[in-house]
Amino acid sequence: MRNKEFDFIIIGSGIAGLYTALLACDVGNVLVLTKGSIDECNTRYAQGGIAAAIGRDDSPEVHFQDTIAAGAGLCDTEAVRILVNEAGDRIAALIEIGVPFDTQDGEVALSREAAHSRPRILHAGGDATGERIEVTLSRAARAAHNITIMEHCLATEIIVRDGVARGVIAFDSQAGSMEEFRAPSIILATGGAGRLFKLTTNPDVATGDGIALAYKAGAEITDVEFFQFHPTALRLPGIPPFLISEAVRGEGGILCNVEGHRFMPDYTPDADLAPRDIVARSIVAEMRKTGSDRVFLNVTHLPHQTVTTRFPHIYRFCLDHGLNITKGLIPVAPAAHYMMGGVKTNTWGETNIYGLFACGEVACTGVHGANRLASNSLTEVLVFSKRIIERAIGGATAKSAVEERHFTLRKYDTSRITTPLRLAILQSLLWDNAGIIRSKEKLEEAALVLAAWYDTLQTPTDRPYYELCNMVLVGRLLIEAALIREESRGAHFRSDFPEPSPQWEKHVVFRNTP
Ligand code: FAD
Ligand code: SIN
Repeated sequence: MRNKEFDFIIIGSGIAGLYTALLACDVGNVLVLTKGSIDECNTRYAQGGIAAAIGRDDSPEVHFQDTIAAGAGLCDTEAVRILVNEAGDRIAALIEIGVPFDTQDGEVALSREAAHSRPRILHAGGDATGERIEVTLSRAARAAHNITIMEHCLATEIIVRDGVARGVIAFDSQAGSMEEFRAPSIILATGGAGRLFKLTTNPDVATGDGIALAYKAGAEITDVEFFQFHPTALRLPGIPPFLISEAVRGEGGILCNVEGHRFMPDYTPDADLAPRDIVARSIVAEMRKTGSDRVFLNVTHLPHQTVTTRFPHIYRFCLDHGLNITKGLIPVAPAAHYMMGGVKTNTWGETNIYGLFACGEVACTGVHGANRLASNSLTEVLVFSKRIIERAIGGATAKSAVEERHFTLRKYDTSRITTPLRLAILQSLLWDNAGIIRSKEKLEEAALVLAAWYDTLQTPTDRPYYELCNMVLVGRLLIEAALIREESRGAHFRSDFPEPSPQWEKHVVFRNTP
């Protein structure tokens, strides 16, 4: 093992890791650990854009109301206030770093997405927002003199002593060696966990590692039952569920079932621009009704120019796979997309472990509640990264105002379970038993299998097995939380408890007890 001391250790190199690194390097030396190459992350795939109330007819108050409405009673109102009030300044800072947002008539162009009552989504390269952000930030981080970037370095443990985070143990997968790094401030920026599910818009790195690392270190994990399923991922045989941005419906794209019927107005007056959970469940209902594994998104009525200039990436991807979307319907179906829950933080990004912070998709700041409003996640990263660095160099602490219930993982008798642990089996299990529509019976079945796998995990010696172990643990937390929450709210839908319950206007929080 090699020992190294830094002021900040940041785990992850998506927008959360790199933006935080760029802020931190002004006040200390920074180590960024990332388990793949620098640009392997969810950020790179973001399409629709980033939300901020900067339009003429918009205001932080309207953005606040939309975010709270989408969050279905579980948003932390203080965190949402901070998000909407600080979004404009943070985006201005991103523009200063060099992110080339699209413009129209000399001003930043703003689009509309579902459940936003105003056009407030900034985008870059049409639908290549994430790629433009990632390229700009990684270039800036590589050029910064105070930032060391270690690629192919997988964090495997947060070192905590006397309740204080002290360092990180990491597996250098190219050298095959373990490394130990120390710093007074450790920032988890490890992204999401979409790979838990068979169908996901997320790339391979999204295995929930940060949640597993934090849980094992004693940090609180909350809201993990709320996993957002994006309604429209491309459904073509042999092709991964490539995202077809919600902005496509924002520009006038219309959903119809395989019989050609425009179905969304049958479910809700907001039709195609209803919140994601409603659109995703409506699509599932239509697929069941018509016995199909897909519905269609129609943009053929939009001007050719609008489709190709506003969505060049989607247009090109589909064309490369034999589909001209200006002439033919786009086959789509829901796919796992975003984890609303994660490592519980206050509004300064602090976890319950002193010196350990979390930001980005791995964190649960409380801004998304039970259902994230589209394009609020990139905004959340910018706003709370800044606050983490402010806090790390001296600031105040805050507490969540929403009620919590604390749990530990239940014990099961798993002696009769013989299902082999394989990634594909785990992903199918989560998709079938803890996906868009859940029930006690299916959740319990999956809980038992995951508990059996958990009991037989070996000490990992390579990255795939580390990730698999993390996914088993995060899958357990998700399923356990989904079982505990006997109601339906936001992205969490239980067919056996189809309504929200006022009793459940509270958070499920897990904490590992030795
Ligand atoms: P990521 O960008 O995923 O970065 C995580 C990093 O952590 C990666 O570098 C990864 O390799 C690293 N890592 C993970 N585990 C370890 C470990 N154990 N050790 C070391 N490194 C590790 N949001 C929006 O607001 N607007 C959008 O338009 C939008 N579109 C999206 C489209 C797609 C297809 C997807 C998948 C997501 C989209 N999102 C969007 C969500 C948004 O992109 C993500 O929430 C956000 O980019 C997450 O950033 P992050 O930095 O937290 O995580
Ligand atoms: C999309 O472009 O539809 C994704 C936006 C998001 O997940 O916020």
